[in-house]
Amino acid sequence: MKVIIVSDKNHMGQVAADLIETDMKNKTPYVLGLATGSTPIPLYQELIRRNQETGPDFSTTVTFNLDEYVGLEATHDQSYRYFMNQEFFDHININKDSTFVPNGLSENIEEVGKDYEKAICGIGGIDYQVLGIGTNGHIGFNEPGSSLASRTRKVRLTENTISDNSRFFERKEDVPTEAITMGIGTILDARKIMLLASGSNKAETIAKSIEGPITATIPASSLQMHPDATWVITEDAAVNLQLEWD
Ligand code: GLP
Repeated sequence: MKVIIVSDKNHMGQVAADLIETDMKNKTPYVLGLATGSTPIPLYQELIRRNQETGPDFSTTVTFNLDEYVGLEATHDQSYRYFMNQEFFDHININKDSTFVPNGLSENIEEVGKDYEKAICGIGGIDYQVLGIGTNGHIGFNEPGSSLASRTRKVRLTENTISDNSRFFERKEDVPTEAITMGIGTILDARKIMLLASGSNKAETIAKSIEGPITATIPASSLQMHPDATWVITEDAAVNLQLEWD
């Protein structure tokens, strides 16, 4: 694993954009796995800025988002489809028909999960998967205890996640209690992975994920098994690391 420690969120956005832009060169179609949450916003802003100036070109890029709440319309301002349009897709030259977010409104989420897996496989897999991390170590919505081999499926959110994410909703009771998420197995199949994290509230879970044992109790620790995973984290999120990383 590579760990890159950066000074602040803007620097994180630039480093992450560099990694993606370099990887995108000479590959068509490029397949990006994307994440929501506040952490990847500086990355999206940097990619938007570059796209509007000299590149990269997203006209043939295909994207798969990690997850979506169950029960929120795409027009709901807290749905992940809405977030992605607002924060990224509406500002770049991507074909919206090539942007996929799991459908959390379907009557048959099990089938949605299977179809999502098939679509990712059908296009040849994800080239670069972007991840954030929950304060409990979740990736996507794979909460502690998720199988390290899990695939796209419906999950129940923990109290910790509902409480963390309630800051975006008017009332805590408005936060959906279920979601559909790529599994840890799905995520680990990506050719490259980057996990972005900032803020001192992530420091403890970051140290456990990077330097602790691989365990389903800390889903992000599964990245230790991946051959090409990079952590891009701000100094305040890195304070609990004990080993030397460069
Ligand atoms: C949600 C998402 C995760 C994300 C996490 C952290 O739970 N499902 O993919 O990593 O939030 O969010 P933030 O970046 O706002 O701390």
